[in-house]
Amino acid sequence: KFENLAATPQMGWNSWNKFACNIDEKLIRETADAMVRIGMKDAGYDYVNIDDCWHGKRDRNGNIQPDPERFPSGMKALADYVHAKGLKLGIYSDAGATTCGGRPGSRGHEYQDAITYAAWGVDYVKYDWCDTKGLNAAAAYTTMRDAIHSAGRPMLLSMCEWGDNKPWEWGADVGHSWRTTGDIYPCWDCEINHGSWSAFGVLRILDKQVGLRKHAGPGHWNDMDMMEVGMGMSEDEDRAHFSIWAMMASPLISGNDLRSMPESTRKILTNKDVIAINQDKLGVQAWKFMSEGPLELWAKPLANNDWALMILNRGPGTISYKMDWKKHKVGDDLSKRELDIDKTAYRWTDAWSGKTGDTGKALDLNIASHSVAMLHLKAK
Ligand code: GLA
Repeated sequence: KFENLAATPQMGWNSWNKFACNIDEKLIRETADAMVRIGMKDAGYDYVNIDDCWHGKRDRNGNIQPDPERFPSGMKALADYVHAKGLKLGIYSDAGATTCGGRPGSRGHEYQDAITYAAWGVDYVKYDWCDTKGLNAAAAYTTMRDAIHSAGRPMLLSMCEWGDNKPWEWGADVGHSWRTTGDIYPCWDCEINHGSWSAFGVLRILDKQVGLRKHAGPGHWNDMDMMEVGMGMSEDEDRAHFSIWAMMASPLISGNDLRSMPESTRKILTNKDVIAINQDKLGVQAWKFMSEGPLELWAKPLANNDWALMILNRGPGTISYKMDWKKHKVGDDLSKRELDIDKTAYRWTDAWSGKTGDTGKALDLNIASHSVAMLHLKAK
């Protein structure tokens, strides 16, 4: 495994949530242009990831080729284009014989595909789990890891098994992140049933993370799936969704159309304070330390004895909450860190409103429905 590839959770964009199989090289190039133009790259997003359906057929030697109509210039040219912008290219395959979209998977071609990707200049492989009946997940992902190793080019391995085979238990040595759930859906708290599979809203995915935080850390992250910011939820919900992914040290992979997004969405995705909490070097995932009805308090220890606190309102009405710092002494078994304002005073900044204050005084919060307050505490 290339250890240093995801010292902090990976950041980028992926084609699936917005475009599904309707992708081509023009979209990928325009997205790379947009990432630079609108400040996503400056904010830290560097992977441009092509999801399912880029594939054509294998040639007579079994080498996978891109769809000649949608990617006529070929993947090497596309990688060169993306690299020239200072960005990196991601590609998608599957451990089975066919991908979820019915395209050729890598089963039986793992080493050959890894060599092909390396020759193209690919930097990131998302590896899916469709059509894998009878396969052992840990073994199948390990085969792709070893194939990438032997191909010799550093490529981040994003494992897209949906949690059924507990990838958090074996994934740290295999890939750089693993999906923890089935697919995300752009809603606050819904579950969409597609017969054989379901898709989940933001809170549903959050609630499936219980017990997983101890498995995450630098180089190996719990992946809550690609984001749905800018995909139809309200602005408050988008802000909360982004904050939750940041607190949980999940990869931050945007899934909307970056070429045409409104300024309000751009501001959410490029909020430097929220991103800094996600990208913090300590690499410790948040946990919920208190809840009161629909209100939840989450804490994430940060480097330099800093903390991030998220106050989440899951419910339908505004909630007033008095943040009495003395009542919130929290200790973290995992990082052995504690937040105790009798020992250390902090200055806080609200990552969304920009307001500041210190822990010498209680803080009166009004949290709108489906929104968050996100506080960064710096030791004084
Ligand atoms: C699965 C994955 C998605 C996406 C699609 C593509 O559902 O979980 O993220 O890659 O396949 O077909």
